[in-house]
Amino acid sequence: MSTKKCTEKELLWQSRFAEPFDREALFFSSSVDVDKALYREDIRGSIAHVTMLSEEAIIPVEEARLIVEGLEEIEQEISSGALVPEWEEEDIHTVIENRLKEKIGPIAGKIHSGRSRNDQVATDTRLYLKGMISELDEALTALNRLLVEKAETCRETIIFGYTHLQRAQPVSAGHYYMAYFNMFHRDRERVRDLLKRADVSPLGAAAFAGSTLPLNAARSKELLDFGALFQNSIDAVSDRDIVIEFVSVCAIAMMHLSRFCEDLILWSSSEFDYIEISDAFSTGSSIMPQKKNADIAELVRGKTGRVYGDLMNILTVMKGLPLSYNRDMQEDKPPLFDAARTTLSSIKIFTKLLAHTKLKEERLAKLTAEDLSLATEIAEYLVGKGLPFRDAHRMTGRIVTRAIETKTPLSKLSLETYREFSELFGEDLYASLTPEASVNSKKTHGGTSFPSVAEQIRNAATKL
Ligand code: ARG
Repeated sequence: MSTKKCTEKELLWQSRFAEPFDREALFFSSSVDVDKALYREDIRGSIAHVTMLSEEAIIPVEEARLIVEGLEEIEQEISSGALVPEWEEEDIHTVIENRLKEKIGPIAGKIHSGRSRNDQVATDTRLYLKGMISELDEALTALNRLLVEKAETCRETIIFGYTHLQRAQPVSAGHYYMAYFNMFHRDRERVRDLLKRADVSPLGAAAFAGSTLPLNAARSKELLDFGALFQNSIDAVSDRDIVIEFVSVCAIAMMHLSRFCEDLILWSSSEFDYIEISDAFSTGSSIMPQKKNADIAELVRGKTGRVYGDLMNILTVMKGLPLSYNRDMQEDKPPLFDAARTTLSSIKIFTKLLAHTKLKEERLAKLTAEDLSLATEIAEYLVGKGLPFRDAHRMTGRIVTRAIETKTPLSKLSLETYREFSELFGEDLYASLTPEASVNSKKTHGGTSFPSVAEQIRNAATKL
């Protein structure tokens, strides 16, 4: 019988076959280029497994020691670049096992006693996720720290608040920053909440049914520092919920970032001209010398689409898969890694970009003082004098029309003019017709008044 191989190195399952695996089929099915990113997790999982095997006297202690030493060396070899995982070896698990065999001989084969690549890859993925969860949490925390800092320094800077992308009412810039703080705080809560479901060891489920060997899965779990142990071996190898959840958390965080980016892109345009993004985070045009573009914000906004795609990708991979493991599930890693890397790098670069962005305070002060967005103040002034809000709204609408026709800011229309509309107007009206007065009259819970923003900032500090 032929023992020809399609590769110099052995695949883990070849012996049953008379013919070698087709090279193109191997290239098509190889996941090395993607799952090589899991080599550390894979080695960590193997060391825990082998340690457990020796403690349970399934393999001799001396052999376990050789295996562990070999694995530690392989980790060094991969991280230093001395060992480059090749696609011909099918997946990272095979790369590591083959290299171990080169180093210590057939004893290397004992590494897989009572284990399948099915529980192995599920373990690797969960170890990776635990690391990523804390990295995302840290990145979001750094962003939120910056937002609180900015909210503090800009608490008394007044900007336009928009609805329908039309100037609506003036607000404290601090209030605006704190709105994003809240979004990213929820993202942090979501990502931290994932931890308890990610923190479950699948090691010991073997292919899906468990093992005839007296494995101590609880010990493997302990060695890998997992908080909990799988309850059902079929579920342990078939479940990718945690990947889906993680990618959806990434997608939501990207959605928040993309909205913030959109604001920055608009505000940096000459039409708005509310902010200055420092040169270090702007790009120019190869043909139009005057251009200063907000490419970084645009790219973060654009990459949001990728992460949404990753979510649809993994949801679709899992749809309708029969229990338990199917090779389709190898396709969980490209969207997982892409979503994790894209989201993490987007949060980090966005944080830097935001730190290098300044509000044009003088211009904003001038614009907000002269803007029609103080109209709500007039209506509420009239309500204060006893007029029903609907009448006040209608009357203010007519005053706004007059301001537009006469090209006069609301704060500059004379008292005489106001009194043409209603006897209720008095000199005290003007005190309420400044952006500061407008902002500070919003004393309601969570509103935009300076003291309310200060309170939001105080509460935020406890969340960092
Ligand atoms: N590389 C596979 C994955 O990422 C694990 C291998 C399991 N393969 C198998 N034929 N059971 O899912």
